Amino acid sequence: MTTSTVRVSDLQFAWPGQPLLLDIKSFELKAGERLFLRGPSGSGKSTLLGLIAGVLEAQAGQIQVLEHQMTDLSGSRRDQVRADHLGVIFQMFNLVPYLSVVQNVVLPCRFSKRRMSEAKQNGGAEQEAKRLLARLGLDDQDLLSRTVTELSVGQQQRVAAARALIGNPALIIADEPTSALDADSRDRFIQLLSEEARKTGAALLFVSHDGGLAPLFDRAVDLSDLNLAGRRAA
Ligand SMILES: Nc1ncnc2c1ncn2[C@@H]1O[C@H](COP(=O)(O)OP(=O)(O)OP(=O)(O)O)[C@@H](O)[C@H]1O
Ligand SMILES: [Mg+2]
Repeated sequence: MTTSTVRVSDLQFAWPGQPLLLDIKSFELKAGERLFLRGPSGSGKSTLLGLIAGVLEAQAGQIQVLEHQMTDLSGSRRDQVRADHLGVIFQMFNLVPYLSVVQNVVLPCRFSKRRMSEAKQNGGAEQEAKRLLARLGLDDQDLLSRTVTELSVGQQQRVAAARALIGNPALIIADEPTSALDADSRDRFIQLLSEEARKTGAALLFVSHDGGLAPLFDRAVDLSDLNLAGRRAA
């Protein structure tokens, strides 16, 4: 058994042809912990999330997610770990434009038997999708059958959150969109996301450039405190 949901050590990453962007000696997200990671625009937050999610490959170091050493796995094995255990809310949401709201939310269950069987225990994927959407304030029947391109940005964020939460993944990763929602609805959104994560015991890693959100989390970390590469460049 491991008590860490994410453990990063001696991580180094540079985009092709660019200087070192991330140089992180050690970073840990504990099981069930809700952590806020802040840093200015361009500091590498989305890149770090991409590395933890196994979408990107580091040049050096280890990234452990649950009991999986992501840095030792092939791309397809990393994809499966992500499908089974991670709920990711991307900065640009990455919703599938031609699918309805509900079809978008059930998508992770189509890529993971584990998440499908979890959803089945809650009455099936579609019912679980609708329950999560309602929890996040989207229960209008007309809205649920629309394609996602017909939704506002705030509504799309909720769809992306429901899609991340379905099937009880152990880790929820959220990359805050820069296109600001109003402060009240954003705080409410984070509280709902936190509550849903708490219910299933999932850890939450939330990144944003807006340091004011820190009080909504168990712990806050500055990427610049973690990142030696950033410090040298400063
Ligand atoms: N696909 C890519 N190819 C090359 N360079 C990239 C790519 N994505 C990001 N970068 C560069 O990496 C650096 C960090 O970008 P990243 O998107 O991780 O920042 P961020 O902290 O998430 O910023 P924001 O708050 O604006 O979302 C930037 O200098 C950016 O130009
Ligand atoms: Mg980003």
